[in-house]
Amino acid sequence: MKSKIEEYLKEIENYTSDKLSDIEQFRIKFLGKKGIVTALFEDFRSLEKEQKKAMGKPLNELKNRASQKIEELKATISGERRVNFEKDLTLPANFDFQGSRHPVSLVINRIISIFEKIGFDVSEGPEIEDDWHNFTSLNFPEEHPARDMQDTFFVQKDPDWALRTHTSSVQIRVMENQEPPIRTISPGRVFRNEAISARSHCIFHQVEGLYIDKGVSFADLKETLLYFARELFGKDIKIRLRPSYFPFTEPSAEMDVYWGLNNERDYRMTKGTGWLEVLGCGMVDPQVLENCGIDPNVYSGFAFGPGVERTALHRFQMSDIRLLFENDKRMLKQFSSAL
Ligand code: DAH
Repeated sequence: MKSKIEEYLKEIENYTSDKLSDIEQFRIKFLGKKGIVTALFEDFRSLEKEQKKAMGKPLNELKNRASQKIEELKATISGERRVNFEKDLTLPANFDFQGSRHPVSLVINRIISIFEKIGFDVSEGPEIEDDWHNFTSLNFPEEHPARDMQDTFFVQKDPDWALRTHTSSVQIRVMENQEPPIRTISPGRVFRNEAISARSHCIFHQVEGLYIDKGVSFADLKETLLYFARELFGKDIKIRLRPSYFPFTEPSAEMDVYWGLNNERDYRMTKGTGWLEVLGCGMVDPQVLENCGIDPNVYSGFAFGPGVERTALHRFQMSDIRLLFENDKRMLKQFSSAL
């Protein structure tokens, strides 16, 4: 038996192959139910006590060397080729990461459900937008300095087509196609030719809101925004409206929420004021209503446009907007329970 084992050890040592089917044959030959090792163990059982003592160790060594060799050879073959052989493909896959909603989607879905509760529907528009919908109809006349507020990516140097710089373009599309009363929110991706940093990106998301009806006033806007802020940030949140300028609203304002100044991060995010800028808003300019065929003597309304990324950063205590665009699984994974 001893010399046999030695021979087999040599055979194992010298054996090599990069073909899975051959390696499997080799495994069956040595370790299979009717293989060499099993047969030797059978023989081993009928040996004398003394011989058993002598042969136990070499026999186990043979078994171990055979399985080691098989593992080594398999490891040198690429994973892809191995799958066919090793895995029963009818078994359920064992994913190490099952996927989760992106933090940006989580915030958009949250905003949608907040406004759905008060009767807003959801509308969408194209990401490649014409000059009329993105600028002109919103009171950004050609050559007007207000256009500089938003650095634009033009399509093939054609000034008539651009990646939309804001979702306000969707309010125009809705008003052109729908009779008031209108209550709609329009979530979407927007693009600006800006340097990428921890605080800004050339792609981001907004959710445009629009409410048009008879007798809508600034008080309605304020109440709606207060409701929104309470739902999103908690019922004790404080808001303030600061006068501002947008070409398509008159009067215009920006809404801040009081975030607090409890730590260094709060100081950084609120530039030392404790207040966090959340959205731009205002009463839809009568000229804009007219541009869309809505009579400003009959109807009035308000619009607002929160940015999604900034809200996501605060909600999830993140400090760099770029994290939201890298899609690093280690980051995304942390949101699997945040649905
Ligand atoms: N479109 C603006 C921007 O991108 C945000 C905005 C301001 C939207 C005021 C509005 C609004 O609807 O009324 O900065």
